[in-house]
Amino acid sequence: MNILVLGSGGREHTFAWKLAQSDRCKALFVAPGNSGTKEIATNLTIGVTDFEAIKSAVLEHKIDLVVVGPEDPLVQGVHDFFLQDEALKHISVIGPQKAAAELEGSKEFAKEFMVRHNIPTAAYESFTKHNVEEGYKFLETLKPPYVLKADGLAAGKGVLILNDLKEAKAELKSMLVDAKFGDASTKVVIEEFLDGIELSCFVLTDGKDYKILPTAKDYKRIGEGDTGLNTGGMGAVSPVPFATKAFLDKIENQIVIPTVEGLKKDNLPYVGFIFIGLIKVGDAPKVIEYNVRMGDPETEVVLPRLKTDLVDVFEAMANQTLSQINIDIDERAATTIMLVSGGYPEAYEKGKEITGIEKVTDSIAFHAGAKSQDGKVVTSGGRVMAITSYGNTYQDAIKKSYQSIKHLHFDKMNYRKDIGFDL
Ligand SMILES: Nc1ncnc2c1ncn2[C@@H]1O[C@H](COP(=O)(O)OP(=O)(O)O)[C@@H](O)[C@H]1O
Ligand SMILES: [Mg+2]
Repeated sequence: MNILVLGSGGREHTFAWKLAQSDRCKALFVAPGNSGTKEIATNLTIGVTDFEAIKSAVLEHKIDLVVVGPEDPLVQGVHDFFLQDEALKHISVIGPQKAAAELEGSKEFAKEFMVRHNIPTAAYESFTKHNVEEGYKFLETLKPPYVLKADGLAAGKGVLILNDLKEAKAELKSMLVDAKFGDASTKVVIEEFLDGIELSCFVLTDGKDYKILPTAKDYKRIGEGDTGLNTGGMGAVSPVPFATKAFLDKIENQIVIPTVEGLKKDNLPYVGFIFIGLIKVGDAPKVIEYNVRMGDPETEVVLPRLKTDLVDVFEAMANQTLSQINIDIDERAATTIMLVSGGYPEAYEKGKEITGIEKVTDSIAFHAGAKSQDGKVVTSGGRVMAITSYGNTYQDAIKKSYQSIKHLHFDKMNYRKDIGFDL
């Protein structure tokens, strides 16, 4: 089978790494890819939302299966684009169609979906610039901290959590009236604050059945002890030690099953990954959000634990025979530590040479914001490389990743030294 992966991050390197291990993968392409995918696949210089260029590449390289990494092309309807095109409609796409991708594309859509299908989540109301006064009143009924969410895609920056009522009102105004997040904050969802520990659950669905992948926990803040600015993710651990069998059963019964059934009832065709962001409040799982693709860096710990051939899994999803597939999971823990450019998530420099990659033998170096240039690997983004290790315990795995990092170097390299600290 010829396969195309869309995206260029650590997530996509991990997909490519796993797909390349399959005997059934004949030719592997990544668009646009990075220095890591270049070693195991053919990179194509095509943007992930350039549908016409994707079409040409798919036809030229006789692609049978397209795996969509990031959310943007899904929310913009790449799957629908394939289904509506005579030359493309027989090609399998892993990722939901536009209507279902709204679960990530609109926070309000997701909240309405959860309420409709009795899926536990924070109480909420949503507002536009036409009823901003009512928004102030709603804030007055809540206890701090106040959670304000831009409705649309805002690259992980659209959620504000504020302690002060006055500040919350001012931010609400700035989002709705002054378009703080552009079109993304035309609508704002205000939510009840949930106090608890976060984890993520990953589900595969073919639209009929589902399979649950291992849980993972990621670390979003730049600073140790979960302090400082939010990032795309600084590290991850799988499985999540506090996710006991009883708790996982609750997630499956109260959240996963109603979600998959809800998609069917609402006539939202879905072939792809469902990322369910959760908070454990006491013993109760509550949904914070849906993403319609895998997380990054969670992919870098979840996929390495999947023993089943990923081509078989994707084929079963596309053919709606997922129920016939066994998902075998490696018992070992996996952890990843993200190396980032100094200054990230604020301004940082690019083009720094990364050395020592060949000395990493006990871990897997998944490239993210890294590219090949004149035979060298240089930084090209804020999150540069995810260093994944296996261990009998998550502590062993984390230790291994930190040992491997000692071999790696680039100017102003930064990473968190405390991944897993709260477990
Ligand atoms: N209702 C809530 N209560 C407490 N924390 C929340 C709540 N909603 C979101 N958060 C926090 O804000 C983060 C970002 O919110 P999320 O809905 O995941 O938006 P996005 O990932 O699109 O930025 C979450 O990971 C969580 O830490
Ligand atoms: Mg989130």
